[in-house]
Amino acid sequence: MPSVQDPAPHLIDVGQRYWLPVYKPRALVLDHGKGARAWDTEGRDHVDFAAGIAVNALGHQDPDLLAALTTQAHKLWHASNVFYTEPPLRLAEELVRAAPFAERVFLCNSGAEANEAAIKLVRKWAASKGRAPDQRTILTFRGSFHGRTLATVTATAQPKYQEGYEPLPAGFSYLDFNDEAALEQAFAAGGIAAVMLEPVQGEGGVVPAAPGFLKRVRALCDAHEALLVLDEIQCGMGRTGTLFAHAQDEVTPDIVTLAKALGCGFPIGAMLAGREVAEVMQYGAHGTTFGGNPLAAAVARVALAKLGSPAVLMNVERQANALRAGLTRINHELGLFAEVRGRGLMIGAVLAEAHMGKAGAILDHAAAHGLLLLQAGPDVLRFVPPLTITDAELSEGIDRLHAALKDFVAG
Ligand SMILES: Cc1ncc(COP(=O)(O)O)c(C=O)c1O
Repeated sequence: MPSVQDPAPHLIDVGQRYWLPVYKPRALVLDHGKGARAWDTEGRDHVDFAAGIAVNALGHQDPDLLAALTTQAHKLWHASNVFYTEPPLRLAEELVRAAPFAERVFLCNSGAEANEAAIKLVRKWAASKGRAPDQRTILTFRGSFHGRTLATVTATAQPKYQEGYEPLPAGFSYLDFNDEAALEQAFAAGGIAAVMLEPVQGEGGVVPAAPGFLKRVRALCDAHEALLVLDEIQCGMGRTGTLFAHAQDEVTPDIVTLAKALGCGFPIGAMLAGREVAEVMQYGAHGTTFGGNPLAAAVARVALAKLGSPAVLMNVERQANALRAGLTRINHELGLFAEVRGRGLMIGAVLAEAHMGKAGAILDHAAAHGLLLLQAGPDVLRFVPPLTITDAELSEGIDRLHAALKDFVAG
């Protein structure tokens, strides 16, 4: 067992002194974890309903991930894409096998990079069709989150992430999520090269696409020769109960982006390209030094195999039901939530009017009760535990949430 190190306040001071102050972490320092539990530097244990923002889908210290990482670490860490190594080749092959629509894969290091690659691919595809730059618009939806690079933050249709970074890249247009009429109007106006969306919006409040919405988007894309790009960076890799979230929407995308749980904590991203676009970007069109790094790819191969397994996917359903039941029980007593929504183990509890804006305060209470929890904006509590969370871990997390919410209500 790792030893207890410096007391947390000292380390937190270091962060406050030296980090660019773009984050506001909760006042604890995590040291190690096992399963859906993590311990801080003061020896306190926390049930993990956050999973590193929907990343640690197999929990902490999964033995198979550890074996893959350490075996590869003893062989070769990095080679770059000017030489072949086996793990990224196998990973690409396995991703294409797992995704019926996909033909080719570009590996990178993060979600933003995967989406950046998707945006560039859309533009290259439209250019290859002879469309002028002003006819290459990408439609995205309010409440979306696609990353923090300049292009992906522009795709992210939330002004709070964009303010101060103008001039933003041109060629993006925003619509209300699930608004079919607005979508039809935008297509009728012309110049649309792609629609990019999350099948379940994560950062924007855990908002699933309405039943049939993706099918409508696909039909409009087909009718107007545009691409369908699905950002499954948060909702993919089994989180909603199927390996790919869009399987439940019964659509065939042109491009899907993955990251987060693809590496289960080791940074890796991927852009999967379908038949229509797989050959668009040729030698020299895009690249990355670290993307497809053998360490990351070795881990991701194991993550992909395990997260697509019936055992994990069945556990998602079982624990999602238990979590929803727990939230309903708590809500009967405390009346804090207006709505519980989401899919699989991607659940949002929307705060009732009287508690709007208080998600951050609730997270402080949760941390004080040994529960790692997230918000999705100021009004929504977000539950994205490891997909392998056990009955006992989930039930203890619910108990801790209950205690934290009682404290919050008490004042
Ligand atoms: C749906 C979605 N897309 C893209 C990103 C950006 O990923 P990253 O932070 O790895 O760049 C995120 C991160 O939260 C996300 O949730």
